[in-house]
Amino acid sequence: MKTIIEPFRIKSVEPIRMTTRDERKSLIKDNHYNLFSLKSDDVLIDLLTDSGTGAMSSNQWAAIMRGDESYAGSPSFLHFEAAVRNLMPFTYILPTHQGRAAEAILFSIYGGKGKNIPNNTHFDTTRGNIEATGARAHDLVIDEGRDPTNEHPFKGNMNLDKLEAYLAEHKDSVPCVMMTITNNAGGGQPVSLENIRAVAAIAKKHGKPFIIDGCRFAENAWFIKLREPGQADRSITDIVRDCFTCADGMTMSAKKDGFANIGGWLALNDSDIADLARAKLIQTEGFPTYGGMAGRDLEAIAQGLSEIVDEDYLRYRIRTNAYISEKLDAMGIPVVKPAGGHAVFVDARKWLSHIPPLSYPGHALAVALYEIGGIRSCEIGTVMFGRQPDGTEQPAAMDLVRMAFPRRTYTQSHADYLIESFEELVPLKDRLKGFKITEEPKLMRHFTCHFAPLG
Ligand code: F0G
Repeated sequence: MKTIIEPFRIKSVEPIRMTTRDERKSLIKDNHYNLFSLKSDDVLIDLLTDSGTGAMSSNQWAAIMRGDESYAGSPSFLHFEAAVRNLMPFTYILPTHQGRAAEAILFSIYGGKGKNIPNNTHFDTTRGNIEATGARAHDLVIDEGRDPTNEHPFKGNMNLDKLEAYLAEHKDSVPCVMMTITNNAGGGQPVSLENIRAVAAIAKKHGKPFIIDGCRFAENAWFIKLREPGQADRSITDIVRDCFTCADGMTMSAKKDGFANIGGWLALNDSDIADLARAKLIQTEGFPTYGGMAGRDLEAIAQGLSEIVDEDYLRYRIRTNAYISEKLDAMGIPVVKPAGGHAVFVDARKWLSHIPPLSYPGHALAVALYEIGGIRSCEIGTVMFGRQPDGTEQPAAMDLVRMAFPRRTYTQSHADYLIESFEELVPLKDRLKGFKITEEPKLMRHFTCHFAPLG
């Protein structure tokens, strides 16, 4: 069959509040043109993030009722720990309230002034947590990963030569090597198993722990199964286990491929590092058998992890993005190719080439998409990454607009509506204007800064 259907039925629904284009124009203006400031009721299709926005299954809701809220030694923790370890065989698993809490704990140990931490591409919270300790974060993704038109099957791969040179240059100042799967900031692009193993081997050779940011591990594994020679007949679970067996630790946001609305974890093999992390966990999150979560959250994740590796789900999940991406491409809209795992990314720098990077073409597109279709997307470009630690501003490597799809939440007609909104935008796009930032905080400015339209 040509159509890959949503592999689920809908049992419970949430109404969408309809708005007009004029209403949306004044709503976004009233919110200083920052899409993060909008009330979600004022959004028709919310593609701001795939994080914590997914729909849980009836089995997850049932598991929530089994949540045991004991302060210490809860059976829900044991269910959670077993479900994580089934996929990611780490010795110590510390539950946190979300991914960035795991990062903050990790870099309270590995960070600090003078430290240098490589990754294929650090996500913004990872970079923020590293830089907040005075350490520096560097992105060493392969060159193909920075070219939105390049159809390399694993554009999230680490550049191994650059990693070797980096470790030779920075030597003792490197506390760990990181790898983000899939590479969110680079377009939701996967990393091959071969590259994960090669990075692990290089890290080992230099005596550095290898830490995976595993937020979208199942989507990454699906791409490995589809695209990597020799992997087609393997189960997702086996591929996932292979990815994590060669790592010394991981950070995780269960709000992505944990199928949960909240949660995360830090996993480690080194007992000394785990002791330090546990002390920090108790100080900032909670006792080690609940960390930053309720018992019911731990149960939702345990069940979610058994559902996320389902091949029918992953086939539908990845096809949604490819479907939209193909339609936008056919309209001449430059999309990042191939389609990523959790999102469709439009190359706004290319499409709105009349808006220079420091006037934020990605932001201009995201605002227009909201005004026209009520669709909330997210700029991943110069607004997010342009401010440098020394206070200067530089264009980011790319100016992308990300439309991230909540898991199991929207249907085919929402996808078709999104495509129609772009059809409306095509004749208008040359008249779109850039923006300036009128107010910004010191770190992670994109969440709260104020914008004003130019001219
Ligand atoms: N790492 C990656 C690759 C992420 O995409 C995120 C979150 C985090 C870490 C932090 O996890 O939100 O649970 O604290 N990404 C979300 C997004 C926010 O929209 O891409 P968190």
